[in-house]
Amino acid sequence: MIQHYDLITIGSGIAGLYASIQADERGASVLLVTKDGIEEASTRYAQGGIAAAVGHNDTPADHLRDTIEAGAGLVDEEAAQILVDGAAARIADLVRYGVQFDAADGAVSLTTEAAHSAPRILHARGDQTGLEIELSLTALARRQGVTILEHTLADRLLVENGRVKGVETMDTASGQHHLYTANQVILATGGAGQMYGVTTNPLVSTGDGVALAYNSGAEIMDMEFTQFHPTSLHLEDAPVFLISEAVRGEGATLLNTRGERFMPNYHEGAELAPRDIVARATHREMRESDTDHVLLDITARDASWLTARFPKIYQTCLDHGLDMAKDRIPVSPAAHYTMGGVRTNTWGETTLPGLFAVGEVACTGVHGANRLASNSLLETVIFANRTVKRLFDPPEPMPLPPIASSGTQSLDDIVPKLMHAEPTTHSKIRHTDDRADSHHKLLIEDVQKLMWNDVSIERDRNCLEKTIFQLDNWATTIPRPIDRAGYELRAALTCGRIAAKAALAREESRGAHYRLDYPESDNKWRKHLIFSRKEQPQ
Ligand code: FAD
Ligand code: SIN
Repeated sequence: MIQHYDLITIGSGIAGLYASIQADERGASVLLVTKDGIEEASTRYAQGGIAAAVGHNDTPADHLRDTIEAGAGLVDEEAAQILVDGAAARIADLVRYGVQFDAADGAVSLTTEAAHSAPRILHARGDQTGLEIELSLTALARRQGVTILEHTLADRLLVENGRVKGVETMDTASGQHHLYTANQVILATGGAGQMYGVTTNPLVSTGDGVALAYNSGAEIMDMEFTQFHPTSLHLEDAPVFLISEAVRGEGATLLNTRGERFMPNYHEGAELAPRDIVARATHREMRESDTDHVLLDITARDASWLTARFPKIYQTCLDHGLDMAKDRIPVSPAAHYTMGGVRTNTWGETTLPGLFAVGEVACTGVHGANRLASNSLLETVIFANRTVKRLFDPPEPMPLPPIASSGTQSLDDIVPKLMHAEPTTHSKIRHTDDRADSHHKLLIEDVQKLMWNDVSIERDRNCLEKTIFQLDNWATTIPRPIDRAGYELRAALTCGRIAAKAALAREESRGAHYRLDYPESDNKWRKHLIFSRKEQPQ
């Protein structure tokens, strides 16, 4: 028998947990499916914190201005206004749900991050804000009686007469498939950082929600904009590990391997310039000195201060033989955040009736071409709250508002023209082999290597066309998925193809998208690229 719920939520990061808790509070029957253990999500690893203009001398208007400036001309200002205005109320929800933010002398502690004009980042457990949120919300969802299925991967949306009616899932241990129906389905599957070989994202962030939505006919927007974080720990034998921007917010400087501080040469904000600028500057310094890292220096702080403020980062560095109080930390950029995603309005509605998207999987337009630090945890709760309101107090049907776009295209509309790609200079850094062998069983690592080399911090036509040719080729030959690895490979491939094609189409540089062959922004590109599958899903 097929089980029916009022709401199915896919994903157990902050977006999925918060939406499920709020729907449950309103008396709905809620099924939450998540493909790994419930606590595994990007959310768990969030370090810096959550932005809210709650400090003295700070206002939502200032937060709005910073968000719009960082977004490089593509921020949806209505969505951004909603984001900043609702921040204090949603922080209050999190506190009500058990999240304890760091405080001193009876007042919440606020720190600074790049491109914020005031200290406005609330944090928890020092540098483990995400862990505090994930554990608090998980415990509450369990206490409240949300039905939770772990190790359960959503592999297909059930679409009937153009409306999403439920989800097909696969038990990742047994491989068994099940169908569940619901009045509404919320995608809360997080980002697609795992389409890149070097990423701060956990293994679960393979872009499944974008692939599920695209395959069912929903619109996908802004996928050319992946945010690269400038400072991930760079050591030969260590996994990629984020060194929070908050470390720079507390005074750390960036030096090239010759020991020269370089950020003041690139931007007046120096180490606290917008993230895309710091990532590109870091990348260039590495290229110019032919090294694979730069150095982060916070030795002006002593060990006891660092242990209290950044306990996780300090300990992780120590585990790798580096004492932040004495040693400069080798760092390099890594793919970090997916600005693009499933296109929604400010009520979480996608272009497919019955389907909602919240959190990093969604593209509300709030981040534009470059997300302001610590606005993503905030975005999840602001728009999850509105999505649940929309589900239970529906106003009149509301089509997505018109936006400036270059029209809707499908993956088949953009095909490479040139096929004589020469390796370019930017491919030298963390260079990996091409896997062109036709007998080789395609793995997600193949997609990741290609994307990291050629759809990275800097792109150009040659590299993009070479990549698209290869990705399209793989898309026609990958076998039908039978396990989690297969579904994740297919999702990363779909996201990679959309990202690469959008990057090829956008013949300018803007925010996180930098084209070596079009280094300037061009006003005629102040519009969005939207992808949607033309033929109906089977
Ligand atoms: P996630 O937390 O990624 O959760 C997605 C969930 O969906 C996971 O449970 C996953 O298993 C599940 N899932 C995926 N696919 C499927 C499927 N097919 N079927 C079933 N389940 C599925 N942002 C900030 O604002 N401040 C910060 O300080 C900050 N620091 C960060 C540090 C790191 C290292 C990283 C990686 C990100 C950071 N971010 C930060 C970004 C922020 O953490 C994320 O954008 C946010 O947590 C996303 O929440 P989410 O609920 O949308 O997705
Ligand atoms: C960080 O702590 O540097 C990450 C903050 C973010 O991604 O918003």
